[in-house]
Amino acid sequence: MKIFNVKKEIIENKKVSADCYKMTFESKEIACRVKPGQFLHIKCSDTYDPLLRRPISIHSIKNNVIGILYKVVGRGTGLLSKKTSGDPIDVIGPLGNGFDYQLLANCQLPILVGGGIGIAPLYFLAQRLTEQCSNITVLIGASNKCNILCIDEFKKLDCKVKVSTDDGSDGINGTVVDLLKKELVPENSKLKTQNLKLKIFTCGPVPMLRQVHQLVSKYNVSSQVSLERQMACGIGACMGCTIKTQNHPESLRDKTQNYKQVCKDGPVFDIKEIVWEDI
Ligand SMILES: Cc1cc2nc3c(=O)[nH]c(=O)nc-3n(C[C@H](O)[C@H](O)[C@H](O)COP(=O)(O)OP(=O)(O)OC[C@H]3O[C@@H](n4cnc5c(N)ncnc54)[C@H](O)[C@@H]3O)c2cc1C
Ligand code: FES
Repeated sequence: MKIFNVKKEIIENKKVSADCYKMTFESKEIACRVKPGQFLHIKCSDTYDPLLRRPISIHSIKNNVIGILYKVVGRGTGLLSKKTSGDPIDVIGPLGNGFDYQLLANCQLPILVGGGIGIAPLYFLAQRLTEQCSNITVLIGASNKCNILCIDEFKKLDCKVKVSTDDGSDGINGTVVDLLKKELVPENSKLKTQNLKLKIFTCGPVPMLRQVHQLVSKYNVSSQVSLERQMACGIGACMGCTIKTQNHPESLRDKTQNYKQVCKDGPVFDIKEIVWEDI
């Protein structure tokens, strides 16, 4: 796939919660090729400090306008948050593989599971899934009510949205994995009788993803995970984002290979492919 380095004007960079921002800019080149789960490598300042770009997922596409949703955690994202409408933005993309979101006609039901800012790439996925399916469930986990992201946006897409908060200030008191457990247990027997299968797409902090892995392994549910690692080049050249993967006959080109680069081979993996003890 062709990768572009585009320099555009920011349309909007809006604070959406205590530490999260949504930025939009127009790029026809990227918008017409990008797939949910792919990401951009973004230059956060006009100087060489910080030197490295920061990887941020595509959050939304509307016409040719690209949206990103990001949380301020350090210097790079802090600098991004200071940009305003009309400022230049320099991005490389689309990068990475993206989700395999083709559903088997009428017999797969998608569940999107996002923890914290991990919800960011799942909204673009939901935008695309609505073209195939009207029965999308979205599970959103956050520390508290003020940090829940994108509920209204998912509802506007007619998704069934369920929420968990660590402090019980909204939705169930618990984690998004508790929500997923509730979906899997009763659904499983009901779905079996209707010959339906669940397909899970998830993104969030590693401890959450480990628990999702344990849960879906128990119920043998097909699941794809978008993984976040610190990245330097973003294109498979520096090996900085290497992870250990299982020798999975279906998913490996070379059966002896058991290391992959998150930026090039991912960030989306079959959840079974990752060696979770090593992450
Ligand atoms: C494929 C991919 C997609 C991503 N999509 C989004 C997104 O849509 N929205 C969003 O808010 N964030 C996303 N991230 C995480 C984002 O890249 C980091 O938060 C960002 O690089 C931090 O940069 P910084 O300079 O602000 O912080 P730094 O000062 O570099 O680091 C601050 C803290 O963040 C941690 N950190 C730094 N880089 C990463 C990273 N790549 N992944 C996880 N933790 C990191 C550091 O260990 C440190 O604890 C994504 C990461 C990847 C790999
Ligand atoms: S960031 Fe360089 S190989 Fe992935």
